[in-house]
Amino acid sequence: MNALFKLTEPTGRNDTLAFEDAVRMRRSFRGFLDTPVPDDVLREVLHDAQCAPSNCNTQPWDVHIVSGAKLTGLSERIHAENEAGEFTPDFTFEMADFHGVYGERKDAQGKAYYEAMNVMRADKEGRARAAALNYSFFGAPHVALLFMPSFGDNVRTAGDLGMYGQTFLLSLAARSLGGIPQTALGFFAGTIREYLGIPDEMKMLFGISFGYPDEVAPGNRMRMDRAPLSESVSFHR
Ligand SMILES: Cc1cc2nc3c(=O)[nH]c(=O)nc-3n(C[C@H](O)[C@H](O)[C@H](O)COP(=O)(O)O)c2cc1C
Repeated sequence: MNALFKLTEPTGRNDTLAFEDAVRMRRSFRGFLDTPVPDDVLREVLHDAQCAPSNCNTQPWDVHIVSGAKLTGLSERIHAENEAGEFTPDFTFEMADFHGVYGERKDAQGKAYYEAMNVMRADKEGRARAAALNYSFFGAPHVALLFMPSFGDNVRTAGDLGMYGQTFLLSLAARSLGGIPQTALGFFAGTIREYLGIPDEMKMLFGISFGYPDEVAPGNRMRMDRAPLSESVSFHR
């Protein structure tokens, strides 16, 4: 075995998409079939994600995969807390903080979602119902909840979890699976910690609901575009 592969255990590389295809095929899915992901496929995804880089190789991700009855129970708990307005986030998230072009992109994303869901802008209740689909994991049979230890201002560690999350998502895409990263789940970090018996020291950044995408689900009608390179990249020579 090549020394490189000692980093990760078995790799089921059969049937995975080429890199370019996986990167371009990945998108956020907001509607899934209830078919579970076979354990061997899930393990390959987890082995792939484990290859993610991290600051000083600290590998600060503490990942909890929730499925089946445990997932149904968690969904019920979070919906109840959401309706009661009982939020227990570990990290702040303030929509109003996104200024300028970032605010415009955020608004465009929200508009695309509510249009896909056929909810009018003025329909506050309809919007709340559509947003609450986050707490049904958009019908996915599994969620990966990404926890981390707390160090300093947590920025480096959060970056590492982002690396992990994207590797996880690309591995799903390469296997024709889909996922959706969800900060919304982090609004209930305390509830989730209690429900799963996770120590208080572990802080939750976001979750990824995943499974086989339901291609015809309303939430999957949208496609988000990207700014041209010239808006994101500067070349210095
Ligand atoms: C860390 C992170 C958290 C996100 N949280 C949510 C969320 O809570 N709910 C949601 O519907 N989408 C969420 N998204 C998905 C973004 O809206 C999506 O990635 C973006 O609009 C680009 O679309 P695409 O992923 O389809 O390319 C999140 C994405 C990231 C990276």
